[in-house]
Amino acid sequence: MQKFVIQGGRRLEGDIVVQGAKNSALPILAAAFLCKGESVLENCPKLSDVYAACRILSSVGCRCEMQGHTVIVRAEPSGKAAIPESLMQEMRSSIIFLGAMLGRLGTCTLGYPGGCELGPRPIDLHLEALRRMGVQIREENGILMCTTPRGLHGARVHLQFPSVGATENILLAAVLAKGDTIISNAAREPEILDLARYLQHCGAKIEGAGSSTIRVQGVKQLTGCTYRIMPDRIVTATWLACAAITGGALQLLHTDAASLEGILDVLEQMNCQCSRDVSSLCINAGKPLKAVRYLKTMPYPGFPTDAQAIVMAVLCKAGGTSVIEETIFENRFRHVDALVRMGADIHVAGRVAVVHGVKQLCGAQVSATDLRGGAALLTAGLGAEGETVLTEISHIDRGYDSPETVLRSVGAKIERR
Ligand code: EPZ
Repeated sequence: MQKFVIQGGRRLEGDIVVQGAKNSALPILAAAFLCKGESVLENCPKLSDVYAACRILSSVGCRCEMQGHTVIVRAEPSGKAAIPESLMQEMRSSIIFLGAMLGRLGTCTLGYPGGCELGPRPIDLHLEALRRMGVQIREENGILMCTTPRGLHGARVHLQFPSVGATENILLAAVLAKGDTIISNAAREPEILDLARYLQHCGAKIEGAGSSTIRVQGVKQLTGCTYRIMPDRIVTATWLACAAITGGALQLLHTDAASLEGILDVLEQMNCQCSRDVSSLCINAGKPLKAVRYLKTMPYPGFPTDAQAIVMAVLCKAGGTSVIEETIFENRFRHVDALVRMGADIHVAGRVAVVHGVKQLCGAQVSATDLRGGAALLTAGLGAEGETVLTEISHIDRGYDSPETVLRSVGAKIERR
């Protein structure tokens, strides 16, 4: 098993070019299945989740080729409408292929998606919406058999919760369905807008993506196109946090400041200087860090749940007491034990964590428990005195493209063993 060995206490300084967004690349790879011809997806990050998505596409007859940070997909479905159980178990977001396969083939058999460690992560909102669009779903020992006996048709769908994945699945099923679909209380995350833009470039008729109400007019056919994936806002937040915890100064390039206001606002409350440009961001964290009285994760454009662990790592060293409430996932404090091992003073009660800032963190041997929890421990290791050995880093490789190379380029002492 690989691990990161980090010598903490070094100030990060310099420029980082931000990678493409994992949570945009994955639904767009699924969307490529809907299109005839070839899609050329640029700025695709090299991540284990992206490779898993390519394996799923190949398993249903598509040709998927990664050249550097470009993925070329030729979607010639073999008519095979079943995703192998092993591939479904690899990542939670594999459920996103359901909407695409129903859209193109009208049928799909797949296993319940693999869990992420964040809690039950049901798919009830996905299935309820698809049923309204004419999908019949039979479930037998963990396998979903979906068919559309009277064809896939548009519908008015209201989401009880603005689920990102459910919004994406409905979009993927709606673009080739007969008639119009209206999604109310849709998720507003920027990755939804990126997915809609790709689909529009392929000929889809979508309005309102990025807002709470999305309208889709079904069309007959979509044709693949060349599209550049948006920058990853959570990876951007991670590098900002690494600068904050080391008292450093970083310039982040090829990123989109507008999608980061929820995070920049918190970093500024913590006494960091942040300046925004059209496609770049600067952070200067020279002053002593301040606690944040109360931080609550919310659907976009609120403070993102994916940045909660990462910001908590920084708050461990901030003067004062911070209260963090995690409202999106049930079990997203799995990184707390390891932070406490590094000297943090944190108390968890249900969905609330109380962080009393300490003067310093000490390096320790810790394990990543999930993707963003792992990123939080990487952040804490950079800001701790002494050596941190971080294991189970396959979690981190799901969402970060060569993080050790990026961090070394701005002065971190980190190696992968
Ligand atoms: C997406 O997950 C992201 N993953 C997550 O990022 C992110 O944390 C999450 O959105 C929220 O922003 C990808 O885009 C691949 P949800 P998703 O459906 O779609 C409940 C990362 O670190 N829910 O908005 O699974 C669910 O249990 C990952 O990159 C239902 O109850 O998120 C959760 O509590 C982690 N029923 C909440 O809604 C459903 O049918 C948010 O889920 C669907 C969801």
